[in-house]
Amino acid sequence: MNEDELERTSVVANCTMNRQRGLEGPNSYEKELGFSILAYLNKCDDPSWLDLCCGEGRALEEASYLGDFRLVGVDLIERERSEGVDWHRTSLRAFETSEKFDLVTCVHGLHYLGDKLGALEKISGWLKPEGEMYAHIDLAHVFLSGKSSAARKVLGEVRDAGLEYSRSRHLIHGCPSRRLDFSLSFEKADLAVGPNYTGQPAVGSYYSSPP
Ligand SMILES: C[S@@+](CC[C@H](N)C(=O)[O-])C[C@H]1O[C@@H](n2cnc3c(N)ncnc32)[C@H](O)[C@@H]1O
Repeated sequence: MNEDELERTSVVANCTMNRQRGLEGPNSYEKELGFSILAYLNKCDDPSWLDLCCGEGRALEEASYLGDFRLVGVDLIERERSEGVDWHRTSLRAFETSEKFDLVTCVHGLHYLGDKLGALEKISGWLKPEGEMYAHIDLAHVFLSGKSSAARKVLGEVRDAGLEYSRSRHLIHGCPSRRLDFSLSFEKADLAVGPNYTGQPAVGSYYSSPP
């Protein structure tokens, strides 16, 4: 299955997934990330935040009412337009920008992508020098050919690039010292892996080492 087909499957288009997290409160980015985006943005000069797989974009929209921030949201789904946020209805796979951000988030979005590691590499290249990234990933759904786990290889590169991985939150986060480079080739997405740690059906990702 190619990635265009993947984005039309019921796993990715699943209408029961949580797309409505706000900035703060019980169903929020702050709760999922263990980090206050608002407090962080308020400390930046000329603050900017790119939220990938933003769902309905509630967190971005709330931020737009609370400060003078550059806010960009990317998701496959259509949403109501609102002032103050630059919305892109497109796949993260196709999204490109030359802009650099203070903060790039992908809250429970990589679970639905085929090439999760390629997305992480792109994210790490969209940050200002002191910028921070936050992305959930279930390493139990990332495989090397033959179905061995890619977790060790992924975590090695994450740490070499100065990032942290929180096992309890399944979260890669921090300010990378350089762009991530996993040196793996994406092979295929697998819909047969079933639910991940969130309880929702998710996408497995297979990689091979280039010759
Ligand atoms: C679990 S929801 C999380 C939404 C939001 N981050 C939140 O926490 O409220 C995952 C989102 O990823 C989006 N998504 C899945 N595959 C995508 C892709 N290839 N490109 C962009 N968005 C994608 C889905 O449409 C969905 O809105």
